Amino acid sequence: MTTETITHSAEETIAFGRALAAELSPPLIVLLQGDLGAGKTTLVKGIAEGFEAALAEDVTSPTFTLVHEYRGPRITLYHIDLYRIDTQRELETLGLDDLLAPNCILLIEWGNKFARLRSDRNVEITLERVGEERVGETERRIQLCTR
Ligand SMILES: Nc1ncnc2c1ncn2[C@@H]1O[C@H](COP(=O)(O)OP(=O)(O)O)[C@@H](O)[C@H]1O
Ligand SMILES: [Mg+2]
Repeated sequence: MTTETITHSAEETIAFGRALAAELSPPLIVLLQGDLGAGKTTLVKGIAEGFEAALAEDVTSPTFTLVHEYRGPRITLYHIDLYRIDTQRELETLGLDDLLAPNCILLIEWGNKFARLRSDRNVEITLERVGEERVGETERRIQLCTR
């Protein structure tokens, strides 16, 4: 099933993420697709708030740290950024398989680089800028695909 939403600001994307959290039940692998600056990390801020796992301002990009953990009362979120991971071997050192416990949700940026993750994912969320790319443009299309 695919659904589509348009947001007009980072705040709206965070609010969308907060509401989306109610629809997500663990264990799940969620792939976040979209160019740099599309809003993937911004969406995670909302999802983390929705699960009471972190405040939006405390969710930062795991670009260099690769994996961030946010523990909520019911679930644990792992926010993962594979932008800098290029080989299967590097991916294996992250031990993502061990993170997928029954109460865990993996939110993975750039996960589509790896065939294993493309086939194992439960949800795929694609964010993209809408229309012409202009300075200050804040419209984003968010597509949610489940299977
Ligand atoms: N509608 C929107 N949704 C999400 N982010 C937006 C939106 N409009 C503007 N932005 C801005 O775009 C940037 C998105 O950055 P980020 O979430 O880190 O992207 P990514 O993780 O995809 O690289 C942030 O600076 C955010 O404030
Ligand atoms: Mg990001």
